[in-house]
Amino acid sequence: MEKNRSIRILSPGRVNLLGEHVDYNDGLVLPVAIDRYVTVDAQPRIDRVIQIKALDLNQYVQIDQKSIENKTDTTGTPLPTWALYPAGVAWSLMRSGYQVFGVDCEYSSNIPIGAGLSSSAAVEVGFAVLWQTIAGWTMDRLTLAQLCQKAETEYVGVNCGLMDQFACANGVDGHAVLLDTRSLQYQPLPLPKNTAIVIADSSIRRSLVNSDYNDRRQDCESAVAILKKSYPSVRSLRDISIPEFLAIRQKMPGCVFKHARHVVEEIERVNQAIRFLEMGESEQFGRLMYETHVSLRDLYEVSCPELDILVDIAESLKGCIGARLTGAGFGGCTVNLVEQSRADEFVGMLYEKYQQKTSRKASVFITHASRGAHVY
Ligand code: GLA
Repeated sequence: MEKNRSIRILSPGRVNLLGEHVDYNDGLVLPVAIDRYVTVDAQPRIDRVIQIKALDLNQYVQIDQKSIENKTDTTGTPLPTWALYPAGVAWSLMRSGYQVFGVDCEYSSNIPIGAGLSSSAAVEVGFAVLWQTIAGWTMDRLTLAQLCQKAETEYVGVNCGLMDQFACANGVDGHAVLLDTRSLQYQPLPLPKNTAIVIADSSIRRSLVNSDYNDRRQDCESAVAILKKSYPSVRSLRDISIPEFLAIRQKMPGCVFKHARHVVEEIERVNQAIRFLEMGESEQFGRLMYETHVSLRDLYEVSCPELDILVDIAESLKGCIGARLTGAGFGGCTVNLVEQSRADEFVGMLYEKYQQKTSRKASVFITHASRGAHVY
């Protein structure tokens, strides 16, 4: 263990270019780690006490091994929601046999919270890298991402897939990272040449995201159960072709069919997108982004009027190649692929027109694909 030194960890947010709501259906995803970070500053301690200050909230907790098990601080008070993320990571690491040393730390974030840019995964991965740095145990980044995902599903109680933690842990400068969530193989893919990734935060936040998200997951599982009756080898929505799926339309309740159809078609879109990226066909790639948005809006039903307005405006602006909502949806952000030379103008126009139409201020910014969480 390294003591008596200050450690700073930078852990990025992520934006997903394509492959939405497929990471819990064995599909392929194409996320990009972005240059917005959770910054954790820490000093190892000689005991096992963990003191964490959330600078943005001006709140503080003290936890230890026993209190972590009980989801309380050392005085027995239940942990506030923000503290469940780092505590959950400590819990997940310890449960898998990794030593978690005491630490005094504080963290802050310039990733918008609850906006679909994985601010919570960035916290989780940042703390996992911190404890790894202090203790010195070796762990590959896929395992690290999986342990952080466990923290979120089993400790925090959000039934997410692997994409967010994976992207925060495995981002590559200048690249998207293609992850096959079934085989867990992954590979960096260069972004389309001469393009910029622009994020637009609608400023809409939905508090019921988790229950809606879990409902969609449930519908995907129901669809698989129905499909199995006609196609016994189907294990997930990854295993069915579009024509096979469309053929059983009559056997599924309408909304289960609509939701599952998004997933089946989205998995195929990512397959096509890989080829377009490899061939440098950014126009075609952008067309798929628009298609994904329509599908998330009309089939998966996770958009909202403000996100639709952002995408409509983007589509009308010069230099826009593709636009869609990104992340779980129900509010949050759109991701836009824009010609590099038009990006600044695009940012200004999108901001202005969105305000004219909605009287809301969007936060619109150019982002760069960056490396995964690291010691600074
Ligand atoms: C959230 C989840 C991810 C993924 C996306 C939708 O960000 O945490 O696992 O399911 O929604 O693609």
